[in-house]
Amino acid sequence: MSQTVRGVVSRKKGAPVELVDVVIPDPGPGEVVVDVTACGVCHTDLTYREGGINDEFPFLLGHEAAGTVESVGEGVTNVAPGDFVVLNWRAVCGQCRACKRGRPHLCFDTHNAAQKMTLADGTELTPALGIGAFADKTLVHEGQCTKVDSAADPAVAGLLGCGVMAGIGAAINTGGVSRDDTVAVIGCGGVGDAAIAGAALVGAKRIIAVDTDAKKLDWAREFGATHTINARELDPVETIQDLTDGFGADVVIDAVGRPETWKQAFFARDLAGTVVLVGVPTPEMTLEMPLVDFFSRGGSLKSSWYGDCLPERDFPNLVSLYLQGRLPLDKFVTERIGIGDIEEAFHKMHNGEVLRSVVVFDR
Ligand SMILES: NC(=O)c1ccc[n+]([C@@H]2O[C@H](COP(=O)([O-])OP(=O)(O)OC[C@H]3O[C@@H](n4cnc5c(N)ncnc54)[C@H](O)[C@@H]3O)[C@@H](O)[C@H]2O)c1
Ligand SMILES: [Zn+2]
Ligand SMILES: [Zn+2]
Repeated sequence: MSQTVRGVVSRKKGAPVELVDVVIPDPGPGEVVVDVTACGVCHTDLTYREGGINDEFPFLLGHEAAGTVESVGEGVTNVAPGDFVVLNWRAVCGQCRACKRGRPHLCFDTHNAAQKMTLADGTELTPALGIGAFADKTLVHEGQCTKVDSAADPAVAGLLGCGVMAGIGAAINTGGVSRDDTVAVIGCGGVGDAAIAGAALVGAKRIIAVDTDAKKLDWAREFGATHTINARELDPVETIQDLTDGFGADVVIDAVGRPETWKQAFFARDLAGTVVLVGVPTPEMTLEMPLVDFFSRGGSLKSSWYGDCLPERDFPNLVSLYLQGRLPLDKFVTERIGIGDIEEAFHKMHNGEVLRSVVVFDR
């Protein structure tokens, strides 16, 4: 048995996405069918469409989602029909070398559903980040479902499934930001603003936001930035040093992911400070720097995959902080759109007009 629903598919590199029929198999062992309530539009969806992730077209796009468990397969114990869940792309395996060393946040063998969702003609779909949630329903592995408080707005909670978690985690989990720290964040899109919100949450004393777009800097203030730098007008490294008594910030987060922004992050640090790279570079980008600078400035240079999150630990906690009014997650939702509006949302994202457009499913 299976069921047919609407889904947004990218068939060919660079071509506009299409709303088509998608066949969802009944859940097999360890699998779950989720009735999707809301799903954010992330840059990674556009990167899939542009062929920037891999060539496994056609893709079923969408991965920042929340919904309700519809049905579960054999042996599923962590969720039951009716549960409100946020979908994640880190269903830890418990068996790989990272998991076995007690580092499940680095799991190298995360779970996805074993069965494939297909087009009506049987063509297998590749779900974006193993999720594929620009669809009325999707099939995932049980470990990809994280139960959170159902009082949360699904359009807001779903964003924890990717970019917002990546940013908050880059600050708190990877960067280890804590009270009294000075933090600078380069690039204030959804990920950078989430890093700002995370730094504010844990009591950073000064949070410096850097962007090339004045509107983004206004938004960054709403998430807790205490100072802003327009990189078109001022040199970010010098200005961050000026704002930190000449020393630099304790933690600098690069949420753009380009050689020039990473270098700014490197040199805008205090001695022995931390750089966190959470923006994703493209394969052709390279870096050339004097090796002695790495040695003499000390500290740590880190990358943050999905904010080093553990969904089971972090999602319920962050939803709870949001419901208590301590974390303004709702501010990431710039607009709510329909399932047919995704191409337009890609354009708005490309032009920097939104933090997140979120598809809300009407039934
Ligand atoms: N590491 C992870 O697990 C993870 C997860 C999700 C997203 N990401 C990545 O994080 C990055 C940011 O994602 P986003 O959704 O916030 O994107 P976005 O496009 O919304 O934001 C990027 C921001 O950077 C600004 N910017 C661009 N060039 C700049 C420069 N030279 N100096 C200062 N600011 C500059 C832009 O104006 C924009 O505000 C992307 O590379 C994305 O792929 C990483
Ligand atoms: Zn593992
Ligand atoms: Zn994403």
